[in-house]
Amino acid sequence: MTTVIFVEADGTRHEVPARNGRSLMQAAVQNAVPGIDADCGGQCLCATCHVILDEAWYARLGDPNPDEQEMLAPTPERTPTSRLSCQIQVTDALDGLVVQLPAFQM
Ligand code: FES
Repeated sequence: MTTVIFVEADGTRHEVPARNGRSLMQAAVQNAVPGIDADCGGQCLCATCHVILDEAWYARLGDPNPDEQEMLAPTPERTPTSRLSCQIQVTDALDGLVVQLPAFQM
């Protein structure tokens, strides 16, 4: 089991288990992490699963695909290291991943 950490805008940390092969968004929803609404259920159609990575983790995961970039474009708190958590697949390599939750989604 992989462990990932979601950090709210106020600094509150949620360290949750994440099942390999599922998405980071699913780990957040299954563990009631606030701010990940996932309105489209992971279809890359809503951007309510926005998370912000630090530069090192962003580089390890790679750039978002064109559909993800299109959904992120109008997101108010988008940063150069923003991702949609539904498009990040959990693997052992993500163990210890820390992502920031945008204040706008809270
Ligand atoms: S859950 Fe809708 S884009 Fe990620």
